[in-house]
Amino acid sequence: MKILMVASEFGSFAKTGGLADAVYGLSKALSNKNHEVAVVLPRYYIIDKRELKDFGFAFKVNMGVLGDISFGVFEKRLSKNLRLWFVDYELFFGRKGLYDDENGNPYTDNGIRFVFLSKAALEVAKRLNFKPDIVHAHDWHAAFVNALIKTKYKDDSFFKDTSSVLTIHNLQHQGLFDASLMNVMDIGWQHFNPFEFEALGMVNLLKGGIKFSDAISTVSRRYAEEIQTPQFGFGLDEHLKAHSCRLFGIINGVDYELWNPSTDRYIPKNYDMDSLENKIDSKRKLQEFFSLEKSDKPLIGFIGRLYEQKGIQLIIEAFDRMMQMNLEFVLLGSGKKWAEEFFKEKAEQYKGKFGCFIGYSEELAHLIEAGSDMFLMPSAFEPCGLNQIYSLRYGTIPIVHAVGGLVDTVENFDAQNEKGTGFVFYSFDTSALLNTLKWALDIYNDKYTFANLQRRAMSVRFDWQTQSEKYIKLYEFAKIYRSLKDG
Ligand code: ADP
Ligand code: GLC
Repeated sequence: MKILMVASEFGSFAKTGGLADAVYGLSKALSNKNHEVAVVLPRYYIIDKRELKDFGFAFKVNMGVLGDISFGVFEKRLSKNLRLWFVDYELFFGRKGLYDDENGNPYTDNGIRFVFLSKAALEVAKRLNFKPDIVHAHDWHAAFVNALIKTKYKDDSFFKDTSSVLTIHNLQHQGLFDASLMNVMDIGWQHFNPFEFEALGMVNLLKGGIKFSDAISTVSRRYAEEIQTPQFGFGLDEHLKAHSCRLFGIINGVDYELWNPSTDRYIPKNYDMDSLENKIDSKRKLQEFFSLEKSDKPLIGFIGRLYEQKGIQLIIEAFDRMMQMNLEFVLLGSGKKWAEEFFKEKAEQYKGKFGCFIGYSEELAHLIEAGSDMFLMPSAFEPCGLNQIYSLRYGTIPIVHAVGGLVDTVENFDAQNEKGTGFVFYSFDTSALLNTLKWALDIYNDKYTFANLQRRAMSVRFDWQTQSEKYIKLYEFAKIYRSLKDG
């Protein structure tokens, strides 16, 4: 198959979160299976042009009331079947942030920027004669591509055999913009209605994308169910329900070439199931990094964006009581200023027991995965989540709130039947969190039981090799759906 991916993030080229890992992992796995994959991405300011091949000619796209825009395209070939096409247009993408300015405010023209990316994607494919069997759009940034195929490009013979798939990585972000964006999208105001692009008098790019895609997926089965309820639907639950016959959940894979304690180059001593005793070296190094006491108390780790999604308000509320427990705690993350300030202050107050690093560090993330005994992930909602999957592989027992991908990847510990891979709490409140933590600490003290729990966790796999097969099935579904629907 020829697959055209369209996304705003990819691997280490442009990353703010798990979206980048997922698009990269899936593209790589599909291309390894001999599918031809091209990924269209913005050429952000941070992506060095000198590393890329310039096609050297101008591409053109019509942006409705804004008129024509000509832009460049750079290519990076990652392997025989995998190439990246970077859409280069300084005015839109020549900025420091991907989505936000230095103060953390979204750029006011984000709607225009990503409508441009969507339109450019199809023009680039055409001009470079890449006739896709599948267009696979990721999140709201690219969702409009699938609507373009069914509207503006409906009669374009180049795309006559193209089916479309949309993956929702996070329903919280939908791409809501002033209705005037319709004049830039330029597919006709008849599509500005509550069943397509209109929501609360505004344009909702994700909503329209859902309507026009041949198949829709999200990144776990549980999340696919949750988003059809008012609690997790962010206002789109009814809309998703209306399209649920083509909505599926496929859990992400992770890259075990990067996240594997037996080969990880960021940790002092590699280990695996049969050499678990070597994990202590990472723990000691982590304790040293954060100037914690080099005690044998259980060490709890946290890595993530400091936003409400990740349940940081629970951690904040429970913090002082957590500090009364027999544990050590380390946190790596950045995000909301008030949360960053909170954790910095607490690190002063609880020196030797709690350490935090506010910022982004790949290296430290690996050390935390390896050096912690347990990993805390109390997300309010979590479409998939990657860190709990890394934690499993590192024998770092996840403590998670029962939502979304956390449910699909972590099985609650069951002492009687010697089953389970982590600790799960079911209500989103501090007492549930603290009680579960207490339970986890008790089990930690039972060395034999805890080591067995670690071994079970370490044997779990969510690899892209397997998960990409499910996407291939999804692509087949999209093709069939389109042929039935379009006659
Ligand atoms: P989300 O995409 O919602 O942020 P995921 O769990 O899917 O959550 O993915 C987060 C990814 O970003 C993981 O690869 C994680 O290791 C990484 N990450 C998040 N925050 C940091 C940080 N401060 N430093 C290093 N890596 C981080
Ligand atoms: C989003 C979600 C996260 C998921 C990631 C990759 O950022 O918040 O749960 O793992 O996308 O699909």
